[in-house]
Amino acid sequence: MLFGDVSEELARRVVAALRHVTDIEPPSALVRVSAQDGVDYQCDLAMSLGKRLGKAPREIAADIVAGLDVADLAEPPEVAGPGFLNFTLRSSWLEERTTALNGDPRLGVAVTPRPRRIAIDYSSPNVAKEMHAGHLRSTVIGDAITRLARFAGHEVIPHNHLGDWGTPFGMLIEHLLDERPSGPYKIGDLNGFYRAARSKFENNDDFAARSRNRVVLLQSGDDETSSLWRRLVDESTRHFTQVYELLGIDLTGEDIYGESFYNPFLAAVVDDLAAAGLTEISDGAVCVFPDGFRNREGDPLPLIVRKRDGGYGYAATDLATLRYWTEQRGVTDLLYVVGAPQAQHFAMVFAVCRAAGWLRDEHQAEHIGFGSVLGEDGRAMKTRAGESVRLSDLLAEAVSHAAEVIDGRGDLSTGVREEVAKAIGIGALKYADLSGDRERDYVFSWDRMLSKNGNTSVYLQYANARIRSVLAKADQDLTGVRILLGHPAERTLALALARFPEAVGAATAGHRPHKLCTYLYETAVVFSRFYEECPVLGAEVPGARDSRLLLAELTSKTLALGLSLLGISTPARL
Ligand code: ARG
Repeated sequence: MLFGDVSEELARRVVAALRHVTDIEPPSALVRVSAQDGVDYQCDLAMSLGKRLGKAPREIAADIVAGLDVADLAEPPEVAGPGFLNFTLRSSWLEERTTALNGDPRLGVAVTPRPRRIAIDYSSPNVAKEMHAGHLRSTVIGDAITRLARFAGHEVIPHNHLGDWGTPFGMLIEHLLDERPSGPYKIGDLNGFYRAARSKFENNDDFAARSRNRVVLLQSGDDETSSLWRRLVDESTRHFTQVYELLGIDLTGEDIYGESFYNPFLAAVVDDLAAAGLTEISDGAVCVFPDGFRNREGDPLPLIVRKRDGGYGYAATDLATLRYWTEQRGVTDLLYVVGAPQAQHFAMVFAVCRAAGWLRDEHQAEHIGFGSVLGEDGRAMKTRAGESVRLSDLLAEAVSHAAEVIDGRGDLSTGVREEVAKAIGIGALKYADLSGDRERDYVFSWDRMLSKNGNTSVYLQYANARIRSVLAKADQDLTGVRILLGHPAERTLALALARFPEAVGAATAGHRPHKLCTYLYETAVVFSRFYEECPVLGAEVPGARDSRLLLAELTSKTLALGLSLLGISTPARL
């Protein structure tokens, strides 16, 4: 076994050995990375079986060891403490593995034997409004999850659930008509446009009446209204596309499945739910009360599928969306990268879809929630004027701050400097969104995210560029070179590099990109220790120079592939 996930492989072998001891089915994921000195992996299976087997865990551990065959990759395992199995990888195996990883573009990560077809909803901003920091998080996290899942070998179909329908469009269309009745019209400031429409709606009765009438026209498919609506959607999409391009996010017009797309399916959703006996009329609205959802007073909570006035809302659209993707597009998995406040909404939508048979046993639906981005005062991020921060401003600011970081570099040409500033600034913004557990809020700070020290993308990009410059200086063909692990710092680095598949696997499995960030950071730290302790270009031991260059090269490849799975680029020079 040279490629793949080492802890999974050890786990497989332990399970095989356990079969000689008992036929009890063991729990999964039972081999973990150990922080203990001299121990690489640890397994606590024997302890978890002690009670059920009525035997001392140490004895069970010894029985497992007796039938355990890991000699090709590890030293003989040891039973430790109350019954742990301790594994130490053989250095000669680590040498072979890391040498081989250098020639593998996937750096040891296996392709899944069970590919799924995944529909992922992310970004999903609202038409005629600026994207805000929450949409940025959704976009960045959704993009990383998409990259990770594709790399694992799954089919991933993004769909951008644009908020492009509903009553506000009456006033927005009327405002558009007032401003520019025909021809092309560029909206410079989406929020300003929305505010102006709202203020007219609130202060001008005639305008409000026109707006209400316009909603009716829009819903009845009136031609002129539809084309005005299209102009608004296109103009907003132009703004969103600019943001995606600057961010390096691969979302295009083809990925847009806005709320309006599901319009034709809404009536059938309500009819079929009613025919299945799942609906109730409550306060004039058609509702479903899915099992297990109650409000604070203990009363059942409704999911409103058709409002009193006959209109359909956000929930009905999400029911139609889910049904469309499972029934018409044959997806097996549905992921929704949407802020944590919508957790209950999605839980209810999933429950209703299960009851209706639109989600079946073979399907998995998951709300990938995330916390808020907070300002340094610990409250939701706002501009000085108290407005929510415009994403396009934020991105421009990221690049200009990054330019300050590299300001001292007079040796870079202007074009290169711009590219590098973009890579650093956009990378930092993304990494800040990705490197913490997504469910937690985080405080937005330029200083912290652009720091050259600590768990930042800048630190990783610098580490990579430094390695590339050492490799360029050596200017050596490394084909046929073998990695040799003489110094403890070399072994520690090799072990970290051998664990890349585990880190990618952990980040992919739970849709937790921060696990990959943590791993990359730890690997870069281990590299810098190696670099301090083991001279590379000036190595004295024969053969050590080549081997160390190859270790350095594998480190660079690992950082670059890892960051690319997070959507972050790695310039060769910084
Ligand atoms: N447009 C919504 C918002 O800005 C997010 C939509 C999320 N996706 C969904 N299928 N509900 O909050």
